[in-house]
Amino acid sequence: MKVVAVENFEDPGFSADLIGWQQVHGRHALPWQNTRDAYLIWLSEIMLQQTQVSAVLGYYARFLERFPTLRDLAAAPVEDVMAQWSGLGYYTRARNLHKCAQRVVAEYDGVFPSDPVLLAELPGIGRSTAAAIAAFSSGRRAAIMDGNVKRVFARVFGIDTYPGEKKTEEAMWRRAEALLPESGIESYTQGLMDMGATLCTRSSPSCERCPMQLRCVAFKTGRTKDLPVRKPKKATPEKHTVMLAIVDGGQVLLQQRPPTGIWGGLLSLPELDGHIAAEDDEVADADHDALTLAVSRFGEMESYDRLSTVTHVFTHYKLHIAPYQVTLARRQGMAAEAGYVWYDAGKLADAALPAPVKKLLLELLGDRREAQQRMF
Ligand code: ADE
Repeated sequence: MKVVAVENFEDPGFSADLIGWQQVHGRHALPWQNTRDAYLIWLSEIMLQQTQVSAVLGYYARFLERFPTLRDLAAAPVEDVMAQWSGLGYYTRARNLHKCAQRVVAEYDGVFPSDPVLLAELPGIGRSTAAAIAAFSSGRRAAIMDGNVKRVFARVFGIDTYPGEKKTEEAMWRRAEALLPESGIESYTQGLMDMGATLCTRSSPSCERCPMQLRCVAFKTGRTKDLPVRKPKKATPEKHTVMLAIVDGGQVLLQQRPPTGIWGGLLSLPELDGHIAAEDDEVADADHDALTLAVSRFGEMESYDRLSTVTHVFTHYKLHIAPYQVTLARRQGMAAEAGYVWYDAGKLADAALPAPVKKLLLELLGDRREAQQRMF
C-alpha cells in the first residue's frame, strides 16, 4: 500500500495572533497605509520590493508630487520617470512602473484590477506584489511571500531546508495560502511584513516581544540563529594539470603563458594539455605515452620521475598540479618552439613565475644542488 503524506498547513491561531499583534504593535502610519487607492499602494509596493522603508519615504513623497495620479504617470515621458527614480536603484522597476501605468490606462481605463491573478500579469508585478496590492486595496485574500516572510515561516515552523530551493519555496507558498485568515487580510498581511522587519530580524530577533514565541519551533529549540538555513555552498570545482619540469645542464624549460586567463603573461612550466595524471606517485601507461610524446619536441628523454601533487587554491577553484621531473639525454628542436625558454636554475628566485610553480621548482632544484653539494 502506498502511503501518501498529507500536508496540513492550517493553523488558525497563527493568523489570529498575528492580527492581534499587528493591531497593537504594528506600523499604522506609513504614507501608503490608511488608503484603498491602488495607485498609492502599487507605487509603494514597487518601491519597497528591493528597498527599505526608510530609504523609500522621501522618494515616495517626491514621486507623488511629480505624478499625483496614475494618468499623470502614464502620460509622462519615461525620462521624467527615470529622473524621479534616480538614486533608488534597480531601474528596471522604474521602466516597468511606467509601462504598467500605460497598460492600466489602456486596458483597464486607469483602474487597477482587484484580482491578484490579473495584477500579476502587469509589468513589474509578481505574485507576491500582486497579493499585497490586492489585499491592501481590495481586501482580497491572497498570500505574500518575500525574504522576510520566508524567514518568519522558517523559524516559526522549523523549516530546515534552504528557502531558495524550489521545493521548499513551493511548500512555503502552499503554507502561506493555507494560513490566510477568513477576515482581516489587511492587518494580517501588514503583520507579516512588520514582524519580519521589526521583530524577526535576520541577526538579532526580539523573541521576548514576539507574538509567536510559544509556537515558534526555532525559539523553542534554540535555533533562531540557524534558521532559515543559509544557501548551501557549492563544492569548490577542482581542476587538474600535469606540469613538466624538464631539466638539462643547470637549466629548466619554461613557457610563457598566454596574456589572458590564470597567470596571464607569467613564465611557467609546460603543461600536458587536457591530460589528467594518475594518482600520486603512480605512473599510468597513458601518462608515460603522453609524456614521451610531449618531451620529444624538446629532446631525447633520459628519465622521468613523478613528484608529489601540489594543490593550489584559487578563489573559485582548486588546481591540482601533478609535476614530472624529466631529464634529457640530448636537447633538440627548440628553435621552432616560440614562447619557450631555457632558464638558468640559479635565477629562478627572481623569475616571474606563479607562486606554486616557483615553490615547486626551488624545492626541486634546491634539493638537487644540495644533493650535488653532498656528492662533492
Ligand atoms: N514592504 C513591502 N511592502 C510593505 C508595506 N506595505 N509596508 C511596509 N513594508 C513593506
